[in-house]
Amino acid sequence: MVVFLPVLLAVLPMLLVSCQGAEGERQEAEMNRFIDELMTRMTLEEKLGQLNLPVAGDIVTGEPRISNVGDDIRKGRVGGLFNLKGAAFIREIQRIAVEESRMGIPLLFGMDVIHGYETIFPIPLALSCTWDTAAVARSAQIAAAEATADGICWTFSPMVDITHDGRWGRISEGNGEDPFLGSRMAEAMVRGYQGADLADPTTMMACVKHFALYGLVEAGREYNNVYPDDYHMFNEYLQPYRAAIDAGAGSVMAAFNTVHGVPATGNQWLLTDLLREQWGFKGFVVSDYTAVEELAKHGVCATLEECALQAINAGLDMDMVSDGLEGTLAAAVREGRCSEAVVDRACRRILEAKYKLGLFEDPYRYCDSTRRAQVMLCEAHRAEARRIAGESMVLLKNEHVLPLAKSGTIALIGPLADTRINMPGTWSVAAVPEQYKTVKEGIEDALKGTGAKLLYAKGSNIWYDERAEEIAMVFKPSMRDPRSAEAMRAEALQVARQADVIIAAMGESSEMSGECASRVNIEMPDAQHDLLVELLKLGKPVVLVHFAGRPTVLNWETEHLPAILESWFGGSETADAIADIVFGDVNPSGRLTVQLPRHVGQYPFSYRQMRTSRVNEVGEFIKYITCYADVSSWPLYPFGYGLSYTSFDYTNFCLSDSVMPMDGTITASVDITNTGDREGTEVVQLYIGDRVAKGVRPYKELRGYERITLQPKETRTVQFAIDADLLSYFEPYHLQWTIEPGEVEIHVGPNARETQMRLMTIQ
Ligand code: NOJ
Repeated sequence: MVVFLPVLLAVLPMLLVSCQGAEGERQEAEMNRFIDELMTRMTLEEKLGQLNLPVAGDIVTGEPRISNVGDDIRKGRVGGLFNLKGAAFIREIQRIAVEESRMGIPLLFGMDVIHGYETIFPIPLALSCTWDTAAVARSAQIAAAEATADGICWTFSPMVDITHDGRWGRISEGNGEDPFLGSRMAEAMVRGYQGADLADPTTMMACVKHFALYGLVEAGREYNNVYPDDYHMFNEYLQPYRAAIDAGAGSVMAAFNTVHGVPATGNQWLLTDLLREQWGFKGFVVSDYTAVEELAKHGVCATLEECALQAINAGLDMDMVSDGLEGTLAAAVREGRCSEAVVDRACRRILEAKYKLGLFEDPYRYCDSTRRAQVMLCEAHRAEARRIAGESMVLLKNEHVLPLAKSGTIALIGPLADTRINMPGTWSVAAVPEQYKTVKEGIEDALKGTGAKLLYAKGSNIWYDERAEEIAMVFKPSMRDPRSAEAMRAEALQVARQADVIIAAMGESSEMSGECASRVNIEMPDAQHDLLVELLKLGKPVVLVHFAGRPTVLNWETEHLPAILESWFGGSETADAIADIVFGDVNPSGRLTVQLPRHVGQYPFSYRQMRTSRVNEVGEFIKYITCYADVSSWPLYPFGYGLSYTSFDYTNFCLSDSVMPMDGTITASVDITNTGDREGTEVVQLYIGDRVAKGVRPYKELRGYERITLQPKETRTVQFAIDADLLSYFEPYHLQWTIEPGEVEIHVGPNARETQMRLMTIQ
């Protein structure tokens, strides 16, 4: 027996895997049998109904409108609905589907649960600044726990579009500019939402979007075209989608934009050849909002039927809002313009999703009022959201001002200081802002019992111009103060004069980023800038607590203010999280996942700059070397950057060898010491720079990172294993992943700019 034990231990994992494999196969066969049987009883119209995801916003607002969608549901013409809120409400609609339609097939209920449900986490851009995949996965898990108690089983998240353009408002919804980090975040979100079992009533199906390349919209202008080449597409932009799919995402949303000249919604190469044949995706693909009918606006089809045909033939399975598939394809099949097999294929994929979610077993499993009452916005979730919001904020500048003492008189000034509705940030469909604190309330709570005094004045609107302000809060209640700019400023100055220190809560309002919020002016809005200028003249320290859903230009602020905290939009617990950092109860640890520009004209730009033939080592003007004549080509704050209330030293950086065989591994190690006097968290970053390759490579690209928390004076060695996987790239001649011999720079550091470098050679 003793003799056999090692053998048994060695084969046990394999046995387990094959048992799981066998069990998986059995379950799949059972699902197939179930769906085969179901589909034999479905009419063509009922199959097409499964592909239909009509708008149901109307449903929310009143009974008379329910009857329209209700009738369609009864007739089996609806496969799912989205962005409805409330377990009891959704249960009733599900009842109509299950009890009053002929086939009784349950509906999918989707929602844009982008960064939390009622407990809201930081906007995804901010979440990525935690560099903490466990925290990101946890945020998704909590979002799922809340949403699924309220009837939702499918989220239109994660959004994994890489972008190099801060003008694009949807940069707020993604993970920043880097494909490596973006891939890790994408996997974490999928794992968090879906858990180990989609049928678990606390998990929901993820939908990776927007497939593909939406982040490349030209000039950062929303819904614009994109022009990627294969080389950059595979090396960079496609990576996070692939990572999310490999992590098991159950669905994919096609992007609005074109890819290689063909709209993604009707792009066979994208939705079938790449996604299914090369990547092995087995879930279903949904269109974006009215994107099927928009194929005609792109000019690639004339009629709605042609749009529907192009989409379904390309591999699209579900039609959001256009009513194109459901509305036109029955006649097309009957008259021979559409094969019934493609309808069956799409229908099967939707039914499989419903089966995996356990909806056939119990259509109401996601409507659980008891669980709702226990989990929704519960203390444990709020505590997690507060911790994660704290991790996401990035301390950009601090000249011995922060953390503030909880004493003396503090003036809180700015249009974002006393607003509840702005706290969650863009795309917070299920938010309940009345339950969230304002920054003012957060600071008041932090100061309770300390004897410190807090004074407040709004000081300005977001913008001077009324129309600009209206756009800045589009579809949200206006926050505009009717007083004159002069009166508001005078009040603020009078308040600030009495204080020892000023906290300015300023920047973008929440709707200045997000969908259709592209901007070319990404500097501090005029009214707030002018107020800051006046506040500074008082000669008191001014701490800028900056709100933004995108990278912004902070040149003036950096030059003149002693402290800047980039707080983004931190979600429901923003206010407490800001207070935690401002008063030092939490040591900031967020690091930028987009570099901050000096000028909007630098866009598109990324730290992941490809090598050019005219290298500029200084970023300033040099004739006939890559540069601008009027602004540095470097960022104001680099990728990966962020300060702490302590400091870290990087020493003893070395490689285990300077030569690596193609199939070998090298270890890079570096000692990190907390040189300050309080505990702190550092994000140690590993970059590579491939000096010699057939395709042009970036000077530096992120290839690893580790978040470590160190006590004062503690030193820890951080190690990164470097192997072929980490060093390979999608080479331009044969269009495949490859590793090539030659010199490679290995960098470590606290951000993309301040790195130490060692050379190694791949042989
Ligand atoms: C349009 C957006 O592009 C997409 O991200 C979102 O999921 C859908 N609308 C549904 O709200």
